[in-house]
Amino acid sequence: MRSDWSKKYWKNFLIEQRKYQWFEDTVEKLADWMHLEHGMVVVDVGCGLGQLGLLYWPHFGRQGRYIGVDLSYKLLRDAKKAAKNWIKKGKSYFITGDAYKLPFPDAFADCVMCQTLFYHQRTPQIALSEMVRIAKPGGFIVCKDLDYLSTFLAKDFTSLPEFTLKEQLLSAKVLLVSHKGKIKLGRGDNSIGRKIPMMMKEAGLVDIDIKNNDLVYFLQPPYESPRQQYYISMLKKRLRREKDNLTWWRQAEEEFVAGGGEKNDFIRYKRVVNKHKSLYRKQIKNGEYYRCTPGYFLVTIGRKPKKRK
Ligand SMILES: C[S@@+](CC[C@H](N)C(=O)[O-])C[C@H]1O[C@@H](n2cnc3c(N)ncnc32)[C@H](O)[C@@H]1O
Repeated sequence: MRSDWSKKYWKNFLIEQRKYQWFEDTVEKLADWMHLEHGMVVVDVGCGLGQLGLLYWPHFGRQGRYIGVDLSYKLLRDAKKAAKNWIKKGKSYFITGDAYKLPFPDAFADCVMCQTLFYHQRTPQIALSEMVRIAKPGGFIVCKDLDYLSTFLAKDFTSLPEFTLKEQLLSAKVLLVSHKGKIKLGRGDNSIGRKIPMMMKEAGLVDIDIKNNDLVYFLQPPYESPRQQYYISMLKKRLRREKDNLTWWRQAEEEFVAGGGEKNDFIRYKRVVNKHKSLYRKQIKNGEYYRCTPGYFLVTIGRKPKKRK
């Protein structure tokens, strides 16, 4: 596994990322599209802090059951505590377990979900086949995952001065090479989101469909909406705990080198990224920073075929 998600940095990252990640009306529409109904048994694989449960509970929770499974008992301990505030008129359980060998019998759940589990797995196909196994015939599998590579290649637009063409090409090169390297190192696939429909077909699912989150990472002074105020406070917080980024840089370099990249290119890339650091800090601090970046956070659904009579 790439990271121990129970470590303070990553746990904070999960909390920060999930808040305001979906528009309320989008969640409503998705819940309908996912065929969620009250009374269902829903299993969330790699549940972390149980954020998927929190998001969709209003759509299946009355008389329903939410069971979060994760490798990390530390995260589950926090998830359990948090669930006390949102579980109502139904039941929640959090159990330690491995996505590659789920601790449930066959045909156990009406809906089996996961969110950002596959992108850091070496063989997500195994996890998917387990999810299919524990779904009831006719039940649904829902996988939400990222396409980071496409998001980053689509180019961030901000109030910082644009990089030169040479610098932009170097950044794209580092992204593409690191993407290959990450897969080679068995650390997962940053573009798994768009491959899940294919994986579902191979796993024997039917009625496969896919949607994208309609959220845009948007910051425009004076940051009027609560969402923007939250984002900006998050960016300020991240600047304060910047030393944690050292681990991130180390992992990024390993992936670039594993993908066939040359160290000198990585050093140059780091210089490019750091080029506007002080201006970035100043803009954030003075409330002048602008950002508008659409992203890819894909949701794929598939149905387990009903048994033939
Ligand atoms: C990026 S976090 C996502 C957490 C949660 N699904 C969410 O979206 O907020 C990935 C989670 O998957 C868990 N995980 C990774 N590999 C796993 C495995 N083989 N079995 C169960 N959980 C796993 C991690 O402990 C972590 O909590």
